[in-house]
Amino acid sequence: MNVTTVTDGIYRLSANMRDILFEGLWPIPNGVSMNSYIVKGEKTAIVDGVCGWDGVPETLFAQLDKIDVPLESIDYVIVNHMEPDHSGWIEDFKKIRQDFTIVTSQKAVPLMEAFFDITNDIMVVGDGDTLDLGDGRVLAFAEIPNVHWPETIATFDTKSGTLMPCDAFGSFGAVEDAPYDDQLTQEQIDFFEQEAVRYYSNIVAAFSVPARKAIEKAAPLPIKIIAPGHGIVWRKDPMKIVNDYLRYTSYQKGPCEEEVTIIWGSMYGNTEMAVEPAVKALEAEGLKVHVHQVPEDSWGDIITSVWSSTGVVLAMPTYEYKMFPPMAAILDELGKKKVLNRKAFRFGSYGWSGGAQKELDEIVQKHKMNWDFIEPLEFIGKPGEEDFQTVRDRCVELAKAVKEAVALKER
Ligand code: FEO
Repeated sequence: MNVTTVTDGIYRLSANMRDILFEGLWPIPNGVSMNSYIVKGEKTAIVDGVCGWDGVPETLFAQLDKIDVPLESIDYVIVNHMEPDHSGWIEDFKKIRQDFTIVTSQKAVPLMEAFFDITNDIMVVGDGDTLDLGDGRVLAFAEIPNVHWPETIATFDTKSGTLMPCDAFGSFGAVEDAPYDDQLTQEQIDFFEQEAVRYYSNIVAAFSVPARKAIEKAAPLPIKIIAPGHGIVWRKDPMKIVNDYLRYTSYQKGPCEEEVTIIWGSMYGNTEMAVEPAVKALEAEGLKVHVHQVPEDSWGDIITSVWSSTGVVLAMPTYEYKMFPPMAAILDELGKKKVLNRKAFRFGSYGWSGGAQKELDEIVQKHKMNWDFIEPLEFIGKPGEEDFQTVRDRCVELAKAVKEAVALKER
């Protein structure tokens, strides 16, 4: 945990979180950083905070000491976003200091009361509003609703061209001593890109339309630095994360990459027997293949893979006239996140009754997912050589559909 200088007069304070489920739900095997920014003019503002987990407010306050910013000198607490991973520290802050002004959106006002019993000293800002901190430092605000809650705003420092957009342009992954893209190797940048896909697909995906609108809103700004609420700060190449995010938003409707995610579950190993032939057939077609087992693998991992995949294979048995339950659950979650227009293939075993297809169709239709399925394969009990060959053939057919879809996109 450290404090660093983003640019003249702006400092990044940060804490890494590990060994938690983000939002109480999503595994973060590589942790996550929570970033807060001090902006100094003649007056001082803090932009977002960090959650109120054990020990964090104290370490945040210790970082303020390191840059010689006494808590008492903070005039404005800018709350871009009310989710408690960014606002939770206010509870501790207000125990120490009472006379500060909250700067936030109109939609955050009732939440501020609901979460923190704060009803006074709130400066409501929206599109086009500014806050002059003195010494030539003027902050401008923009509403970016649903990135990631409806009340969210972004703060832009007009003096340095630093955009502080909270969740937007963020990523998972703990950040150690080098929090800036200009300090990182290509390998480290690649790591944070993968963590950004995980973060985006798990947390932001359902809000891809507003996320794209937010990016388009930010485009005219003279941005030199992007300093998000999670992940690294982009000051060498801020357009990289902008373009990456544009790509992630486009994955919702697809086509995505020339990749296929196989999600499989098996009760007694019969469906499992046909998974390896599927993997080999897809790889032989030159596609990148992600393989996940349900219920063993985390939803976070599965959604991350599906988000960038143009093709999906669902391999599971029928269970009590329906889909294998953990497969139905992950498919339903993919539907809620509006993972649309995938090329897909289903195969699996059944014993005394089929029925998986009916539930699969219901989920796909309920969420208007518009997945394009090639003919499914069901086999009684264990698959035979003819079934293996059918799986191979249909995976080749799927690979062809994936390649055609990606090629059309790139035209
Ligand atoms: Fe990082 Fe929506 O909170």
